[in-house]
Amino acid sequence: MKVISLINEKGGVGKTTLATHIAAGLAIRGYRVVLADADPQGHATVSLGLRKEPGLYDLLVRDAPFKDVLRLVPGDVYGIAGEPPKGELYIIPSNAETRNIANTISDPFTADDRLRELEDLIDVVVFDTSPTPSLLHGAIYLATDGIVYPTKLEALSFDGLVESLARRRDFETRRQHGGKDNIHILGIVPTMFRSSTVVHQENYAKLKSAYGDLVWSPIVMRTIWVEASTVGMLVYPFAPDSDAAVECWSMINRVIQGMQL
Ligand SMILES: Nc1ncnc2c1ncn2[C@@H]1O[C@H](COP(=O)(O)OP(=O)(O)O)[C@@H](O)[C@H]1O
Ligand SMILES: [Mg+2]
Repeated sequence: MKVISLINEKGGVGKTTLATHIAAGLAIRGYRVVLADADPQGHATVSLGLRKEPGLYDLLVRDAPFKDVLRLVPGDVYGIAGEPPKGELYIIPSNAETRNIANTISDPFTADDRLRELEDLIDVVVFDTSPTPSLLHGAIYLATDGIVYPTKLEALSFDGLVESLARRRDFETRRQHGGKDNIHILGIVPTMFRSSTVVHQENYAKLKSAYGDLVWSPIVMRTIWVEASTVGMLVYPFAPDSDAAVECWSMINRVIQGMQL
């Protein structure tokens, strides 16, 4: 089982969009996936048609069994019409109580310990995170194997990216004490890219010169993302042949390669 987290300490950069589409895309391709919603806003939960509830809080604070917190997402919510997903997608839902996890858990390895219970049942856990760093992020840094960093091609998103990369380094020593390998930086995904906007082209070039091959192909700014989310759908069922879906599949191939799934 591999744990992947979507992190950027800036809001509105595409973390939830990519977390839901990576988790669902992997389930379509045949993996058994858990999407852990670690944002008190619960937008990953809602995007998959589920109601907000204290799933992550119950798991980490009340020590609830997984059978009580995992919610199976029906294949027709995220899959392509007429082609049932080959795998399974579960979600650990979130609500405002997620905000209290950080003040309540005493052992920072709690999330890591709990997720290990899924070792033989699940192939991939995907964390959607909130932008504001907290002790819950600490628990996620100790549990995750890899990180994908979505970023807009704008100065404040870059700032969030740099802060996030630094924060990861803070946890490497703790991980070593806990007998864990370093976190694998899977990639940096430029999101909401407008190829005809000069400042976006310049910032994309800056990102490439700073981080080289870690920078993945951009996800282009397209109305279809907003249209799909407005009707409560992912792009796979909403527009399976769209360029947005094609960009998602290329991102998913990189996740599969990078994490050796
Ligand atoms: N490629 C894109 N083109 C257009 N809109 C996008 C794209 N990616 C994400 N969005 C929209 O941008 C908003 C913020 O994205 P979201 O994933 O919620 O960011 P975060 O989780 O980092 O706060 C959402 O309304 C989403 O639908
Ligand atoms: Mg979000």
